[in-house]
Amino acid sequence: MPVPEAPSTVPSSPALVRFEGVYKTYDERNWVVDNLDLDIRQGEFLSLLGPSGSGKTTTLMMLAGFDAPERGRILMDGNDISTLPAYKRDMGVVFQSYALFPHMSVAENVAFPLNLRKVPTAESKARVKEALALARLEGFEDRNPSQLSGGQQQRVALARALVYRPRMLLMDEPLGALDKALREHMQLELKAIHKQLGITFVYVTHDQDEAMTMSDRVAVFNEGKIAQIDCPQAIYNRPSTRFVANFLGETNMLEGVVLSVSGGQAQIRLSEDSSIHQAGCTDPELAAGSMAALAIRPENLRLAAPGEAAVQACVIDSVFHGAHCKLRLNMAKGSELSMTYNPGNLGRAAPMPGEMLSLALPGSQAMILR
Ligand SMILES: Nc1ncnc2c1ncn2[C@@H]1O[C@H](COP(=O)(O)OP(=O)(O)OP(=O)(O)O)[C@@H](O)[C@H]1O
Ligand SMILES: [Mg+2]
Repeated sequence: MPVPEAPSTVPSSPALVRFEGVYKTYDERNWVVDNLDLDIRQGEFLSLLGPSGSGKTTTLMMLAGFDAPERGRILMDGNDISTLPAYKRDMGVVFQSYALFPHMSVAENVAFPLNLRKVPTAESKARVKEALALARLEGFEDRNPSQLSGGQQQRVALARALVYRPRMLLMDEPLGALDKALREHMQLELKAIHKQLGITFVYVTHDQDEAMTMSDRVAVFNEGKIAQIDCPQAIYNRPSTRFVANFLGETNMLEGVVLSVSGGQAQIRLSEDSSIHQAGCTDPELAAGSMAALAIRPENLRLAAPGEAAVQACVIDSVFHGAHCKLRLNMAKGSELSMTYNPGNLGRAAPMPGEMLSLALPGSQAMILR
């Protein structure tokens, strides 16, 4: 397909779309989108990730033009598009259900948006061919949707959304109906298509692995607001709230009181054993005296070296998972810890239930959260 390969997103690329103070309610009582500010950058792969009901689809519907904000504005290239009809927005849309026309062939389904736009036949044929090649559907032109697998049907929906070369592609859980293996395969294909086309992708999912593996940036939604927006590594390693830390995989939370904050770091005294630890801190509202928690992922706990600051915990059980082992531990006053380790890297025999361990909490891999 004769599309030049685009560079991956430049982090500082300008905003293509801007949500400014956007509110949405369905019942006049609760804001399902609650004062949302969001910049979508030209060419990026942005995922909207969050639990069920957090406002992801509603946000996407307002972006697509199928719904309008109650308050606030949506700008594209600096122009207010809040009430611009969907068909004037130059955005392709793919939903969870394929919504193909059952009585039309694959080629006719893909050509549909071009027919609506009265594109001349010769050009339409060429574009359909191009879109089918992009979605790897050559040879399926004459089949009906009922003769295709779920993954193939979703590819037709994708080809149909891309055939008129929109500036943005919006997708709402497009792989939700597929089995795990096919879903992972399609994730890689979507990523490749994004790279090839260089257009902006906005992708709604509640699957954290999917968001992590595909996106340039992830916006984590909670109750109609963005809890954090950043690249996947930052969201995972430097969560800014307890909600984000817990939503993206398992996290140990050790409660305590903040002793000092400075330069993106804080010191905390743990309630459990009064031990003092340093870790990252990005919350401007945390100050000395605040109650907080030290958050550390199970894979970042490690055995302490002699003399190193450590916490003591007793092994409750140990489970072998193949590539890693997982320990469940209890501290003296009842705080639970979970630790994963690679058996080949531990440098000693596997810890057994009943054994006391001294565990270091490396500050560079821990965060202090409200
Ligand atoms: N048409 C509607 N009428 C009334 N309430 C709605 C409507 N659409 C959504 N809601 C409500 O708005 C809130 C946000 O819904 P939304 O569909 O945006 O969530 P979501 O993050 O996409 O969730 P999911 O992961 O389950 O798809 C929910 O509480 C939902 O019940
Ligand atoms: Mg949804």
